[in-house]
This record gives sequence, C-alpha cells and structure tokens, in this order.
Amino acid sequence: MQIIEHPILGEKSNEEVTFYFNNQPLKAKKGQTVAAALMANGIRKLGVSRKLFKARGVFCGNGRCMNCFVTIDGLDHVLSCTTLVEEGMKVFSNESDPGVRGEK
Ligand code: FES
Repeated sequence: MQIIEHPILGEKSNEEVTFYFNNQPLKAKKGQTVAAALMANGIRKLGVSRKLFKARGVFCGNGRCMNCFVTIDGLDHVLSCTTLVEEGMKVFSNESDPGVRGEK
C-alpha cells in the first residue's frame, strides 16, 4: 500500500525505476526511500542483528534507530530509510558484519 496523493505533500511521482535487492530486480517509484521501496515489494527483513542474528528491518523510519542498514552500491551501513532509491541501484541485505564479530 502506498500513498499516491497526499493532502499536504501533493501528488507523488508515478515514474518507475528498477533497482536490485540481493540481485533480484524490483520496481519502485522515483522519490521513494529504499526502505519504502523494499516494503512496497513485500520485503521486511533487511539483515540480521550483530550478536544474536535476529531479523532486522525498518523500525523508526526516520534515521534514528540504525536498524535498517543495508549495503548500497558497495557502500556498507547505509540507512535505507533515509536514502532515495535510484535507477539501477544495487542493494544488499546486511546478513553479516564480520568486522564486529572478529571474522574479518
Ligand atoms: S528505520 Fe530507523 S534508522 Fe532506518
């Protein structure tokens, strides 16, 4: 479910872009955040927690909780809820953090 027209923000763009999540091509609306685009495609799990390997996803949705880290175009630890999706963007879930676990 997406808000197409907002009484204050106005009409959203209907222009579509294609991006990739774990190499799977997905469609998004131009101007959506990566987190919103993933949720619109039914994806809730963005990675696992560092110590307990529990599923992580969008919690606050405004860049405060640091729960929605993903890797975007090779850059680790990008907040998906504050990053706008772009054509051809390659997003990967954060399934591991070898530096924290001493595996690096
Ligand atoms: S959901 Fe909280 S920082 Fe992204």
